Amino acid sequence: MGDLEGLREEIKRMCLAGNHYSMSVWSHVDNVASNSAILAEMFGGDIDLARPMGVSHDVGAIVFGRSGENGEGHNVTGARMIAPILQRHKYSLLEIVQIQYGIIVHRGSDQNIIRKTLESRTLATADAWDHFGNMRELWNVGQRDLHKSPEDTYVWLIRKLQNDWSKVMLEARDLLLPDRDRARDILERLHAGIPVS
Ligand SMILES: [Fe+2]
Repeated sequence: MGDLEGLREEIKRMCLAGNHYSMSVWSHVDNVASNSAILAEMFGGDIDLARPMGVSHDVGAIVFGRSGENGEGHNVTGARMIAPILQRHKYSLLEIVQIQYGIIVHRGSDQNIIRKTLESRTLATADAWDHFGNMRELWNVGQRDLHKSPEDTYVWLIRKLQNDWSKVMLEARDLLLPDRDRARDILERLHAGIPVS
């Protein structure tokens, strides 16, 4: 097993130095790592794989933005970038390949992706789960970081909620449904200009 603390520190530094997102990206990455491990524990996955996968999953977006390097997608860029980083932190070749796989298939925008490992499913689920809990922050990201109009931000987030729900693993859907519904309610309020408590 590799040096998780060293990996966390390096990714945290990258998050704080990146200029595509505000500082909240580190809390997203950290939450996804924790929640992916919780889900792995609940459903019989490998926690020691779920955590570094969560920490690593958005590295392509942190450095190059959501479209990744040359528009290939931040998942593809991230899978390539993460190999030498994980190597530096003493992860084995097998662990690196498993983490790269999880990163490649974590995106929700490709509805046809089949996630073949449990840890890739807990990663995608944890990513969606954190989005459900941060609708106000995502509303701000749409306008502040992605320079969208309020209307375009609304459309973007409606689609994002749909994509996110489709990547939630079946075993976790009952658990996450109330959070998804709350996120949808908050989005409707933000769109309508109703204060969100
Ligand atoms: Fe993410």
